[in-house]
Formats: sequence, C-alpha cells, structure tokens
Amino acid sequence: MCYYNTLSAVLFLMTVESRGYVTINTTDPFSYPLIYPNLLSEEKDMNALIDGYNFLLNNFSKSDVLIKNGILLDRTPLEQCKQYQYASDDYWRCHISFNIESVHHFSGSCKMGPSNDPTAVVDPQLRVHGIKNLRVADSSIQPKIVNGNTNAIALAIGEKAGDLIKKTWIKNGI
Ligand SMILES: *[C@@H]1O[C@H](CO)[C@@H](O)[C@H](O)[C@H]1NC(C)=O
Ligand SMILES: *[C@@H]1O[C@H](CO)[C@@H](O)[C@H](O)[C@H]1NC(C)=O
Repeated sequence: MCYYNTLSAVLFLMTVESRGYVTINTTDPFSYPLIYPNLLSEEKDMNALIDGYNFLLNNFSKSDVLIKNGILLDRTPLEQCKQYQYASDDYWRCHISFNIESVHHFSGSCKMGPSNDPTAVVDPQLRVHGIKNLRVADSSIQPKIVNGNTNAIALAIGEKAGDLIKKTWIKNGI
C-alpha cells in the first residue's frame, strides 16, 4: 500500500505576457540590484490561469481514471480567500495571487534587439550596445521567454556565444 494518498495538480503558464524589470538602487548603486518581477501585471496571464483552474475543476478532476480510482478534488478553500464564493473568478484571482511563483525562469533582463530600441541591451552578436568588449550570454538576452523550461535555450545561447567569439578572434587573425 502506498503511504502517500494525495495527487497535486500544478498549473504552469508557458506563454507569459507580464514583464518585470531590474534596476540599480539610485541611492546606493553598489547594493543589491532591485528586482521587480511584476508577475500577473498583464490581465491575460491572470485569465489564462483562471481558465486553467476551471479546467482542473470541471474536466481534469472528473476524468475517468481519477473517478475510477476514487481520487476526489480537495475543495477546501484557501484560508485567505474564504470571503469569495469557491471557484468563482474572484476566488481564483485571490487563490492565484497567493500561489504565484516564477519557478526559477527569470529571463530577458538584457534582451537582444536593435540599438534604436531603448529596452534592448545586446545586438545579434550578443555585444552590449555602446560598450566595447562586453558580451552577455545567458537567458537574460531572450527578447521573449521561450515556451517551456529555460535550461535548453541557455545552453544553446552559450554554444552560439562560443561560435561568435571564435569567429571574431579568427577574423582578427589571432
Ligand atoms: C537602497 O540602498 C539604501 C542604502 O543601502 C537602502 O537603505 C535602501 O533600502 C535601498 N532601497 C531599496 C528600494 O532597496
Ligand atoms: C470541460 O467541461 C465543461 C463542462 O462539462 C465542458 O463544457 C467543456 O467543453 C470541457 N472542456 C474541455 C476542454 O474538455
């Protein structure tokens, strides 16, 4: 017999519209950078998650395999959201705002783009606009987060950076 008797369903939003930003502390630029994730700042993200919770409630939790195995959805409302009718949009909004996290996929803070884009940091060769001999090669250069986990794309960016650096040095005859 299995000791554990609970299944958890977790929603992941793969195509995120909300964007945060990173900045320096203007009174003390040598202190930690200030990171503002701005999660859920775009209504589209919240609505997609509400749809996801409704799918869990109306469809997934009623699937044959769960019903056949006597697995029931725990409908205990979140303590902080008890004032809303369970499973209403307002309830999900509250529930989501207490359960949101980035799952470690922060990216895009040094996005690639043309020099006339004030939000772009690196050019297509990963060189920082306006600064000589500085490239950035990690997940931060993505103009838009990939639709999935960020590890594979980080490796691809690293590989590409290696090629770009080699090409520059070979061209310079070194
Ligand atoms: C900025 O740095 C100062 C001095 O270290 C600190 O007191 C202040 O809390 C920082 N500001 C923010 C928004 O973290
Ligand atoms: C989910 O269940 C609802 C209510 O039974 C139904 O109207 C809807 O079509 C289902 N959606 C999917 C994606 O299966």
